Amino acid sequence: MTIEPEIEEEQLTILLVDDEANILTSLKRLLRKENFNVLTAESGAAGIDILNSTEGIALIISDQRMPGMSGVEFLEQAKKIAPDATRMILTGYADINVAIKGINKGEAYRYITKPWVDKEFIDIVNDAVLRFALIGDNKRLNLIVKEQNHELKKLNTELKSLVYQQTAEIKQQNNELKSLNTNLRANFKNSIGAFSSLLEMRNAKTVNHSKNVAAISFKIAKSIGLSGEAIETLIAAALLHDIGIIAISDEALRKGAAVLLQEQNPEYLNHPIRGQTAIDSIENLRKAGILIRHHHENYDGSGFPDRLSGTEIPMGSRIIAVADFIENRMKELPKKTALEKALQELSQNYGSRFDPSLSSTVEEAVRELYNKAGSETDMTEAVLKINDLKPGMLLSKHAKSGTGQILLPSGTKLNDASIKILQRYNEIDPAETGVSVWIKKLNNQDNDLPAKNQNL
Ligand SMILES: [Fe+2]
Ligand SMILES: [Fe+2]
Repeated sequence: MTIEPEIEEEQLTILLVDDEANILTSLKRLLRKENFNVLTAESGAAGIDILNSTEGIALIISDQRMPGMSGVEFLEQAKKIAPDATRMILTGYADINVAIKGINKGEAYRYITKPWVDKEFIDIVNDAVLRFALIGDNKRLNLIVKEQNHELKKLNTELKSLVYQQTAEIKQQNNELKSLNTNLRANFKNSIGAFSSLLEMRNAKTVNHSKNVAAISFKIAKSIGLSGEAIETLIAAALLHDIGIIAISDEALRKGAAVLLQEQNPEYLNHPIRGQTAIDSIENLRKAGILIRHHHENYDGSGFPDRLSGTEIPMGSRIIAVADFIENRMKELPKKTALEKALQELSQNYGSRFDPSLSSTVEEAVRELYNKAGSETDMTEAVLKINDLKPGMLLSKHAKSGTGQILLPSGTKLNDASIKILQRYNEIDPAETGVSVWIKKLNNQDNDLPAKNQNL
């Protein structure tokens, strides 16, 4: 057995006001049949009392001719108490003036003349309560729309602030990522510099070799218009071009590059490949690894390890080859004439060892670097206390800790960071002597002695 839910239809309330009790009775009977809840009052004043104490009256039907207060007067007041209720005038006189007054002053919806026809009366009443229901629905809907608008506004505001908050968070994350990336790049560059310094520690005769090759390469690359990324790769490759030399035995290293090449020493001939292999696991250095592999290729195809020629050799490798040659010769030749002699030898090798298209830019780059360095050679050595060191000073000897660990190789140009390293080690492992640096000579003295080292 199923129980059907009982649906209760809302009973609408109608207020009847008439001084004639028999009219009230017959109308009440008629309306109750239509399932209305009917309230009655025999005067306007009694009607007002009911209105004041009852909520939700749908329809007010008032007789016009009543002692004390006319129907129109009553409706005028009723409008103020129950503005949503529909109002109608009931009159025994078909008087158009009363009807107009009722409609204008009491805002009556209709007027009905006595005697009425039941069917017509009920139809009018149904229309009137429908109007009341529509007004109520309209009010409710308006309220819902208002509430929803308010809710929407609130959501919109919350959404806006959420978007602002998230945008701010994304901005902050971006900034953090940027700064992490900057740190990472700086650490990466520092690591390359550290590798390069380690390499120079392996062979004291090659102090600053990689740094100078990088400096010359940078100037050439700039003047031939290489892109920023290509220049970065080139600098990394120039700083690390001889990293494969680490694997060469001390005995072979002592012989120098020219002898090793003449002997076709396999360790020496393989150093470009070993260099590439050593850094191949570092993805960011792979392109530099290719330049390292080919830094001993000759333009005419007579070099090693792959005997590439012309434009088969990557441009970066061709630049490093030129810079490497000049840098080595500047260390090997008597200082006074080294620059002119090295440039002359270079010009004799364009087309055979070196790319002739670089000839116009190399000289300027090389002169710029070595003339500046030349002014730095008007210096004498001095031993300074750590606290007297200044950024820009050049180490004339390796800076070592008390237990003999090389902290910075000779030739290092000091900066705030490197001075901090020396200060830190001075606290944990202090050296007995100070740090040897180059300082300006009082009288210029030419040093004409040739360097004895042979560079790789
Ligand atoms: Fe090399
Ligand atoms: Fe080299």
